[in-house]
Amino acid sequence: MSSPTSSVIIKGIGSFTPEKVLTNGELSEMVDTSDEWIRTRTGIRERRIAKEGETASTMGAIAAQRAIEDAGLSVDEIDLVIVATITPDMPFPSTACLVQTKLGISNAVCFDVEAACSGFLYLLELGSSLLKGGTKYRNALVIGSEKLSSILDWEDRTTCVLFGDGAGAAVLSISENGEDGLIDFRLGADGTKSDVLYMPGGGCSLPATIDSIEDGKHFLKMRGREVFKLAVKVMEQSAAEILEQNNLSPDQIQCVIPHQANLRIIESISTRLNIPMERFFLNLEKYGNTSAASIPIALDEAYRSGRLKSGDLILMVAFGAGLTWGASLMRWC
Ligand SMILES: CC(C)(COP(=O)(O)OP(=O)(O)OC[C@H]1O[C@@H](n2cnc3c(N)ncnc32)[C@H](O)[C@@H]1OP(=O)(O)O)[C@@H](O)C(=O)NCCC(=O)NCCS
Repeated sequence: MSSPTSSVIIKGIGSFTPEKVLTNGELSEMVDTSDEWIRTRTGIRERRIAKEGETASTMGAIAAQRAIEDAGLSVDEIDLVIVATITPDMPFPSTACLVQTKLGISNAVCFDVEAACSGFLYLLELGSSLLKGGTKYRNALVIGSEKLSSILDWEDRTTCVLFGDGAGAAVLSISENGEDGLIDFRLGADGTKSDVLYMPGGGCSLPATIDSIEDGKHFLKMRGREVFKLAVKVMEQSAAEILEQNNLSPDQIQCVIPHQANLRIIESISTRLNIPMERFFLNLEKYGNTSAASIPIALDEAYRSGRLKSGDLILMVAFGAGLTWGASLMRWC
């Protein structure tokens, strides 16, 4: 039985990235760009692109299956499924319901959350709160899954070089032996800045028409420089705040898992937080920005590469469209 003071741990973790690799060199044959420009401005070398039939739900289901196996649970023990995505398979039903069906999870509450690249951190707080809230839920499956290649304008060099596809998932459970697990969260949002990163078409304000498609309204739009500055500011603020409120100094953090958007953004945060780059886990050179999938894919790779040791304090920090942002503190169990 849980209580508001119980702690919630990541009991299992998994990820999936599509097989198809799209390199900077290949991109430079599609738009007016170069490997050198992309690498020096972003740190990205290549990204994964989902094939036809690979969607947020299919990728999410594979990542989720791996997380459930890693947790040592059966699908019958999952009673909550939440997916964070800006590229759902379709507006409805939710991608969470589609994942539920694919995995044969018969008895769970399922819904999606839309918080863009901060989505996974939103899920961690939400899942953790629901588990702590009472006796109803035992194990929550939280998934970040994106097929961003489906909303990119492949003729717009200012955006198409930055993003990729993939999925990451975690099983959250109440700790049975009082480990710390997920310690704290600082989430935030500012809708007044919604116009720096958005997709105008496809919702009820601009349903698909021949004109909306011809005008490219169903593609991601971004004002890169503004996004860059805002990202550095809010990621630093939320991370600094969570450290301060938990009486932690930067040297007590063993590993930072940042949202993998841009190496220069991450380097600025490293400098501002006074946490050396060696303690940041990076995989953006392989995947680019996979939005809500970015942190769980990185967390899974950090774990599987032996980078995370039991007892390590881990700081996760993200930023995304909305604007949304968040920092989360966790002790690896
Ligand atoms: C997008 C980003 C890499 C651009 O880097 P930048 O140094 O700010 O570059 P600028 O936007 O100032 O553009 C510089 C020049 O490069 C050009 N350029 C843009 N994309 C290019 C590309 N892929 N290849 C070559 N040149 C490119 C621009 O057109 C501009 O040319 P101009 O000076 O002739 O107008 C950077 O602003 C960024 O990463 N922003 C944050 C984006 C992000 O992380 N979004 C997701 C958040 S969750």
